[in-house]
Amino acid sequence: MITLGIETSCDETALAILETKQEGAGLQYRIVSSLINSQADLHREYGGVYPTLAKREHGRNLLPLLRKILIESAQIGPSRHVMDDNTFQTKIANIKSKYVDKNSDLVDSLVDIDFLRHVPNIDRIAITEGPGLEPALWVGISFAEILGDLWSIPIVPVNHMEGHVVGSLLSNNVQDNGWNQLKEIRYPGIALLISGGHTEIVLIDRQSDEKVFPLRYNIIGQTKDDAVGEAYDKVARLLELPYPGGPQISKLAEEASREGLEFISKLPRPMLNSDNLDFSFSGLKTAVLYSIRDEKNLTGIISNEFKKGLALEFEMCVEEIMSKKLRKAIDKVGAKTIIVGGGVVANVRLRRAFEKLSIEYDLPLYFPSAHVSGDNALMIALAGSIDDRTYGNSLKADGTKRLS
Ligand code: KG4
Ligand code: ZN
Repeated sequence: MITLGIETSCDETALAILETKQEGAGLQYRIVSSLINSQADLHREYGGVYPTLAKREHGRNLLPLLRKILIESAQIGPSRHVMDDNTFQTKIANIKSKYVDKNSDLVDSLVDIDFLRHVPNIDRIAITEGPGLEPALWVGISFAEILGDLWSIPIVPVNHMEGHVVGSLLSNNVQDNGWNQLKEIRYPGIALLISGGHTEIVLIDRQSDEKVFPLRYNIIGQTKDDAVGEAYDKVARLLELPYPGGPQISKLAEEASREGLEFISKLPRPMLNSDNLDFSFSGLKTAVLYSIRDEKNLTGIISNEFKKGLALEFEMCVEEIMSKKLRKAIDKVGAKTIIVGGGVVANVRLRRAFEKLSIEYDLPLYFPSAHVSGDNALMIALAGSIDDRTYGNSLKADGTKRLS
């Protein structure tokens, strides 16, 4: 099966083409192509993702990215058929009038589109339906609907967080036959999803002993307020570091660690000892705000040394909270596999903590490889490939709004 994945939930416009086949109980896959167009530079001056700008950029980026990915994906074979000009022009005219009010940037981008007459050898289109920024999500959904309608290809709505779970199952080792084996979960598995928008612990089970996919998910812990990546970004902003703040904080913390710097006071560990699997990070951010204010009142400046010490203390705090909650979750459900996903997984200190934990519990630990640790469409294509829900070629065929 060949799946086109589309991801526009935040500030990355991404497309991917993935081929999958069932092999016994396992799934094999071949990455045909994966393209990501990041808008991070554009959003930097706003100190975070600016939804209207994200919507406009997705609208402008999607068609050029599609043209590029289809050129790069010759290996999927020749197009299924070429639409006659009349049919094509009628369909495009309908599409333009249907979407012009909702999505003018996307409609404006529909120039030099003769290549769309060639219906590619794609079996389904997987699209992120949420969670994410609504204006941004709707551009991708509209685009998926346009392609589904034009090419008569079914669409599968994908949950972005499921994307992060299965993204961590993609391995990096191509076998001799050119196919990759998806990393195997021993059930029940547990996924810790840590991104700019979410902090969740998810219990993962297969359908039954005979049938693995689609996987069953149950959120057993989540943040009550800010997501962990958001906390990183907010603390970075308080320290006047550029967006996205996670890598900046992490760099300062590593320097502090190397230089043996210590922070003068300890930050709180919110909900560390609560008897559930939930998180809270907003109090931590407020504590950082007060520390900075006190330091300014006392010394008049925020020195580089202070910033480094604070970054390290913040990271130690996050590490302690994450490790403790993950431990609690493993114990509670008797987890046999640990999966970690989401952009914050790039953090070296956290990775080390999770590795230590997996050794201690003697459990397999799956991280995403670097190319799928941030938002991407490969994980969406994969989630869409293993899902058995398809919705004809229009997500809204039943007139329902599918975003939660
Ligand atoms: O999953 P992701 O790419 O996008 C969302 O779906 O949110 O995650 C982005 C988040 C941002 O908050 C960013 O600051 C954080 O991941 N991040 C990091 C690191 N690299 C990215 N946080 C901590 N340490 C890092 N090295
Ligand atoms: Zn994400």
